[in-house]
Amino acid sequence: MQQIKEEALKALETASDLKALEELRILYLSKKGKVQALMAQMRDLSKEEKPRFGAQVNELKQALEGAFELKKEELEKANLSQQLLADKLDITLDAYEVEGGSLHPLSLVVERIEDAFVGLGYEVAEGPELELDLYNFERANIPANHPARDMQDSFYVNPTHLLRTHTTAIQMRVLEAADKMPIKLICPGKVYRRDDDDATHSHQFMQAEGLVVGENVSLADLKGTLQFMVTSLFGEKAQIRFRPSYFPFTEPSFEVDMSCHICGGCGCSTCKQTGWIEILGSGMVHPDVLEMANIDSKKYSGFAFGIGIERVAMLKYGISDIRDLYNNDIRFLRGFKKF
Ligand code: DAH
Repeated sequence: MQQIKEEALKALETASDLKALEELRILYLSKKGKVQALMAQMRDLSKEEKPRFGAQVNELKQALEGAFELKKEELEKANLSQQLLADKLDITLDAYEVEGGSLHPLSLVVERIEDAFVGLGYEVAEGPELELDLYNFERANIPANHPARDMQDSFYVNPTHLLRTHTTAIQMRVLEAADKMPIKLICPGKVYRRDDDDATHSHQFMQAEGLVVGENVSLADLKGTLQFMVTSLFGEKAQIRFRPSYFPFTEPSFEVDMSCHICGGCGCSTCKQTGWIEILGSGMVHPDVLEMANIDSKKYSGFAFGIGIERVAMLKYGISDIRDLYNNDIRFLRGFKKF
């Protein structure tokens, strides 16, 4: 017994991993192990010798089991620390840099305009890009043979449907659907028309339409509103001026210029030495347009305007070629993270 104990404890010391330990456990402590074999010897002993021998074997068994248990814990601990060492994460290493994107400059401008007007209690409305001739032209006081169509009508898919040429089409839908007054809306969206494709023109671009209809809406309201919008977009120094113009859906009509934000009005290449830059069309909603939408033009009046989003983006961010807005060149777009 003593021999087995010493032999087992010695072997235990040299066991270097759990597998070796298990092999030793089988050798000494399993049913077919050496300790159990001692038990078998009891058969040959006398009645008097049996209890003492049995107690001694049990003692041996417990001593060995204890030693095995301790060794097992020791090996498991060693295993764990080895694993932790192997899995060590060096948090001083640089992390991969994730490049954040930014809004597209056209979206930036649309959001700026929407924010400004929502702050004044306006709602944002949209309409379909594939539009009925009815809303794009007829309701805007541009009947079939009106010369004002010449500048715009282009992308017809059939005689009654075309890609809308201006966001004024949304205005006409909104007027027709109106069930309460006043109407205060801003309508951004893409528009399409036959045009040059060069540094300042594109056959597809964006506009935002503004519309207010209610009792006693006046030209003074239009002027104040446009000054507010231009200030929101270009800052306190930007001034506006009205030039008489013609649009079939407004009367009177105006083109609106902004004082050149580059030279402050003294003349430069951006404003072609005039000190002013044209930025939008506007006017008082034509009474016939109101009547066509079943709105009483004796009781209600309104103003409207349409602003080109590309033009604002180009002026605001100093972009010289409109095509930069459509090419999705990442080097160009990266420049807008700061806005
Ligand atoms: N629809 C015009 C255009 O595309 C812009 C415009 C002018 C819109 C006057 C308006 C307006 O609402 O009142 O050129």
